[in-house]
Amino acid sequence: MQRPVDEIRYLEPDWKPQRSNSAVDGSRSRAAATVTNSFVERVYSRLTPVYDLLFNRILQPGRVAAARRMSQRGGHVLEVGVGTALSVSLYPPNVRVTGIDLSAPMLAKARDRVARTDGSCRLLRMDAAELSFADNTFDFVYAPYTVSVVPDPVRVVREMHRVCKPGGVVLILNHFLSSDPLIARFERALSPLTIHFGFRSDLDLASLLDDAGLKAASVDAANRRPIWRLVTCVKDGRIDRELAGDRDGTPRHGSHVS
Ligand SMILES: C[S@@+](CC[C@H](N)C(=O)[O-])C[C@H]1O[C@@H](n2cnc3c(N)ncnc32)[C@H](O)[C@@H]1O
Repeated sequence: MQRPVDEIRYLEPDWKPQRSNSAVDGSRSRAAATVTNSFVERVYSRLTPVYDLLFNRILQPGRVAAARRMSQRGGHVLEVGVGTALSVSLYPPNVRVTGIDLSAPMLAKARDRVARTDGSCRLLRMDAAELSFADNTFDFVYAPYTVSVVPDPVRVVREMHRVCKPGGVVLILNHFLSSDPLIARFERALSPLTIHFGFRSDLDLASLLDDAGLKAASVDAANRRPIWRLVTCVKDGRIDRELAGDRDGTPRHGSHVS
C-alpha cells in the first residue's frame, strides 16, 4: 500500500551507513568516502539545471537497452532514482511506471517532462533505502544510474529485491569499478571527488551483489564506452531467455552467476 508522500519517513539527515565486519551488512561494497542523504540532495539541487545537458545523450543507449528488456513481458515498473524522468518516453506501452526520487528539484523537472510527453509515470518523493511499498509489488524494479549515488547501495538493492515480485526482474544500470587493476586504482582515488558531481566511482559489482544476496542472470556492457553495465537479476527464479538477452539462455561473459 502506498503511503502519502508527507507520511514517508526519511533517514536522519546525518545518517551514515554503519561499518561492520560482516559482508552481509554490506561492508565490502562501501566507499572510503561516505555520503549522507542530505549531501546527495544538496548535490542534486545544484545539478538539476544542467543534469539533462550533461547526462541525457551520453547515458541514453543504456536506458534504451533496459527499456527494451521490459517490453518482453510488460507489467508494473518501479524506477528507483527517476531523476528528471529521462526514460519516460522510452518505456514500452505494455508497462505502467512508478518513479521515485529523493530530490525535490529533480522530481519537479520530472513532472514537467511527464506532462510534456505521451508517456505516463506516477512520481513520488521517497528514499530508495526505505521504500514505502509492500513486498512483491513490482514486475520490474529498475535503477538507472542510481546505485552509485545513494549512501548505502547494498540497502537500496535489498529494498529493490524486496519490492520485486517473485519471478520479477531487478535491473541495475550503472558504472562499476573496472576489472583492470590500474583503472580500478584510478577510480578509487577519484571517488572522493566524483561524489561532488553526484556519484561514486568505486562501486564494485561483485561485492554489491554478494552483500545484497543477489545473483546476476546477465551482465551486459551498456553505452558506448564499456564502463557501464546493465545487470539483470531475477527474484526466486530462472530468467526468460529473451530477458537475459541470449538465445540459449546462457549468462553472458563477466556475469556473476554461481
Ligand atoms: C544520476 S541520477 C539518475 C537519474 C535517472 N535515473 C537517469 O537515468 O538519468 C541519480 C538520481 O538518484 C536520486 N537519488 C539519490 N539518492 C536517492 C535516494 N536515497 N532515494 C531515491 N533517489 C535518490 C538523485 O536525486 C538523482 O535524481
